[in-house]
Amino acid sequence: MSQETLWDRFLKPVFSTFLLNQEELKKTQAAIDWERDCQKLQDPAIKYPDYYTSKNFHGITGGYLNASAAVTYDPITQYVLPPNETWVRKALVDSIGGYPKKILDLGCGTGTTTLLLKKAFPNSQVMGIDLSPYMLAMAQYKAKKAGLVIDWRQGLAEKTTLAASSMDVVTISLLFHELPTNIAKLVLMEAYRLLVPGGQILILDGNQKTLHKSEWLNTIFEEPYIQEYAKGNLDAWLGLAKFEAVRTEDLWVIHQISQARKPLTVTEVLPNWAYGLT
Ligand SMILES: C[S@@+](CC[C@H](N)C(=O)[O-])C[C@H]1O[C@@H](n2cnc3c(N)ncnc32)[C@H](O)[C@@H]1O
Repeated sequence: MSQETLWDRFLKPVFSTFLLNQEELKKTQAAIDWERDCQKLQDPAIKYPDYYTSKNFHGITGGYLNASAAVTYDPITQYVLPPNETWVRKALVDSIGGYPKKILDLGCGTGTTTLLLKKAFPNSQVMGIDLSPYMLAMAQYKAKKAGLVIDWRQGLAEKTTLAASSMDVVTISLLFHELPTNIAKLVLMEAYRLLVPGGQILILDGNQKTLHKSEWLNTIFEEPYIQEYAKGNLDAWLGLAKFEAVRTEDLWVIHQISQARKPLTVTEVLPNWAYGLT
């Protein structure tokens, strides 16, 4: 696990004492039967990768594999997506072209973006995939409360068991800054495999240009892979995965939205070794 960060020493106590409503957190924690729901959501075939279990994210010991991570995620995230979390997430949803029949949200977490997708496209089949059954249990709870039917599944974003060419749109929000670059590239290749020809991929995350210039920012929050994410270039990664019409736009300086399409005439993606990924 990582060394003590500024987050541990300063921000975590500030969040716990002033910014998080402890009573609300306790209520949410008690409203979910974690053991039952996680058991139902869990896929016994899944093996957690080392890059996921060996690090803390956001200062929560044990990463995302506990109820505390799932319950505190939304109350904390509202403060890290200025100027307004819903506005930022909706910018991704609004970038979707046409009316997709099937939408997949990879690394969906507690499902905040997934719920917005289902609200925007009520007649679409929407699926959320995440590695943490706790995050999925929280997402499921939120969807039930909102009366939305969404298919929640535990899975690896870089190696889902879904059929090739089965999705019209794949979305990925706030996942890539939490992945080693070689895994982020595999996720893009998997998204390419899952999309129908002409299908669209949309990625919302931290602005790589801004983060690259502000290394001090990266040391504040406990984000083990954000430095390598900041040095990368999503447009280049999308190009490598054979996407076309690739473009990344800044959103409020600190966020970016990347989008691209799978070509109508599909080129075979090269095996992993060709990219130095295995
Ligand atoms: C920062 S959260 C983002 C959650 C959500 N997409 C959002 O916008 O709030 C990152 C999520 O990615 C999940 N995750 C990390 N690595 C993953 C992987 N390889 N496959 C699937 N999910 C993963 C984590 O469990 C966590 O829920």
